[in-house]
This record gives sequence, C-alpha cells and structure tokens, in this order.
Amino acid sequence: FSTSPSAMSAIKHVTVIGGGLMGSGIAQVAAQSGHQVTLVEINEGALKKAKSSIETNLKRVAKKIHKDSPEEAEKFVTNALSKLKTTMNVMEPIQNTDLIIEAVVENINVKHKLFSSIDPIAPQHTIFASNTSSLFIQDIASVTKRKDRFGGLHFFNPVPVMKLLEVIRTPETSDETCEKMMTWGKAIGKTTITCKDTPGFVVNKLLGPYLREALKMFERGDATVQDIDTAMKLGAGYPMGPFELLDYIGLDTHKLVADGWRKKFPTDPLFKPSEILENLVAEGKLGVKSGEGFYKYDKTSKV
Ligand code: 3HC
Repeated sequence: FSTSPSAMSAIKHVTVIGGGLMGSGIAQVAAQSGHQVTLVEINEGALKKAKSSIETNLKRVAKKIHKDSPEEAEKFVTNALSKLKTTMNVMEPIQNTDLIIEAVVENINVKHKLFSSIDPIAPQHTIFASNTSSLFIQDIASVTKRKDRFGGLHFFNPVPVMKLLEVIRTPETSDETCEKMMTWGKAIGKTTITCKDTPGFVVNKLLGPYLREALKMFERGDATVQDIDTAMKLGAGYPMGPFELLDYIGLDTHKLVADGWRKKFPTDPLFKPSEILENLVAEGKLGVKSGEGFYKYDKTSKV
C-alpha cells in the first residue's frame, strides 16, 4: 500500500504523442513521478533527440534532488528510464492506456486526423487531452465521440522546471474527467489551476500581449533589447526579459501563435505583424534553438 501521489491517481499509464520539446518534457515528468509512459514520435531523428534530451534532463533533476548521493541520483534516472517506452506506432500503446496527451504540431487538421483515428481504438475510460496553446480544445475534441472525456493539459517550457499545469475544461468536459486530470497533475508534482476553453487560457492570454508590447517598444526605438530585458528582470522580478523569453520559446513558435491570435482578433493592433520578428524568422534566426534570435548563442555566452 502506498500513499504516494502517483498511487492515488486513477491514471497509471500515460501515452504522450509528439516528441518535441513539450512532449518529451511531459513524458519525462510523468515517468519520473512513477507512471508508465509511452512516448510516440513518428520521426525517427526526433525520437532519438527526445530520448537523449530526456536522459540529460533527468540527470539534471537527479543531481538537484539527490545532491549528496550520486548512487541515489543514478537510481532515480534508471527508475525513470525503466518506466519510459518509445514507439513510432501510435496504435501500439493506446489500447491499454488511461490518458493520452497530444503535443504535436499546432495544426487543427493534423490534430483532427490523429484524434479521429485513435478514438475508436482507445478504451472507453481513456481520457484524451491536448497540450495546445493556440487552438480551442472544443474544436480539437469535435471529431471524437468522447467529448466528456476530453480536456486541455497545458504545460510550460521547460516542463521539468515550470511548476504550473493549466487544466482546461470545455462545456462538455465532465466533472469526473476534470477531477482525474487535476489529481494526475498533482501526482506529477505540478500545481494545477483550471481555466475555461478561452484563447490563451490564463498564462498566454497575459504573456502574449506583454511580449507583443515589448516588440513594439523596441520597434518604436523607446529602448534597446538589452535594456528592456534588464528592466523586466530587475524591475519586475521576471526570470527572463521578454526578448530572452522570445528567443527561448522560439521566434517561429511565437509568430505562429501571434498569427493565430490575429485571426481571432483581426482589429486588435497588438497582433499586427511585427516587422522585426517577421524578418528574423525569414532569416532563420529562431532564437536559442537555431543559435541566434535577438541574441547570439554559443556554448558559453549570450551576446
Ligand atoms: N530540465 C531539467 N532541469 C532544468 C531544465 C530542463 N529542461 N532547464 C533548466 N533546468 C534547471 C537547471 O538545472 C537549474 O537547476 P538548479 O537551480 O538546481 O541549478 C535550474 O533549472 C535553473 O536553470 P539555469 O541555472 O540553467 O538557468 P536559469 O536560472 O536562467 O533558469 C529557466 C532557466 C528555468 C528557464 C528560467 O530562466 C525561467 O523560469 N524562465 C522563464 C521561463 C518561462 O517563462 N516559461 C514559460 C514560457 S511560455 C510557455 O511555455 C507556454 C507555451 O504555450 C509555449
């Protein structure tokens, strides 16, 4: 008998679909908190990258929580890795899973194709969730026959570090599903909040306009990138300034989200295209992941 949070959750096996930054982070936190996890990624190279980043990040976590015991740290990593399976075949794990979290590309057609293909095969009790940050959960769920067992589980980057999990319920998500998602969120060590299925949920609804305003401020020539970042770190206590955060999130990702918001709010000047952002993305300067965005990155310095 165990009273650990993972033992109390009704969700024992989790399938994470999509092995990018978010999907691999979600798979990692689920495995390190004792859940059986299968990570699905259809691209072989991406799957290899996901496995290696999970191992690296597990070691970082292990070093932190077992700083005085290298043996315990090693055990932590081995245990977590033993809970994690990977596959390129989505149909393999879903016949025996309690929760499926989708973290694939932000494209409604791709998500519809995925959910409509797995809905008839997954067990009745299985909860479906999306980690989308820019689409309506209700729209994604519309192709399934389990709208009461469908919700949003929105994580933050870097998933192993950021303590928040937004649990999103549509008008059709049942109380039971919402409760199970909240309990599971706590079992993986996150603090959960709930939000209705509204654009940006809580965090991105506030963070989006803040990042857009920073871009406009720089474009107007009010202050430099470095000074705006310093101001927000030292004057508002943010861990990163807005441009450091844009580079961290990925300029292409931010552009994709902003383009989506512009479609939803076409008259809002805040979401007008930012010239500097458009140019950087066109030049392939996408932030940390490409080695340059608003700043340049190498192994040791941020210029
Ligand atoms: N996995 C595990 N541990 C990690 C990690 C990872 N991927 N990344 C960082 N860490 C750990 C480090 O090991 C370090 O641990 P320590 O305190 O024991 O030394 C700790 O986190 C801090 O890391 P660093 O010392 O390398 O660097 P910082 O102190 O600058 O912290 C940061 C990095 C945690 C990313 C911090 O700068 C931060 O919180 N930034 C803001 C991030 C943010 O706002 N995220 C939300 C983005 S919006 C979003 O995700 C929404 C989505 O829809 C796109």
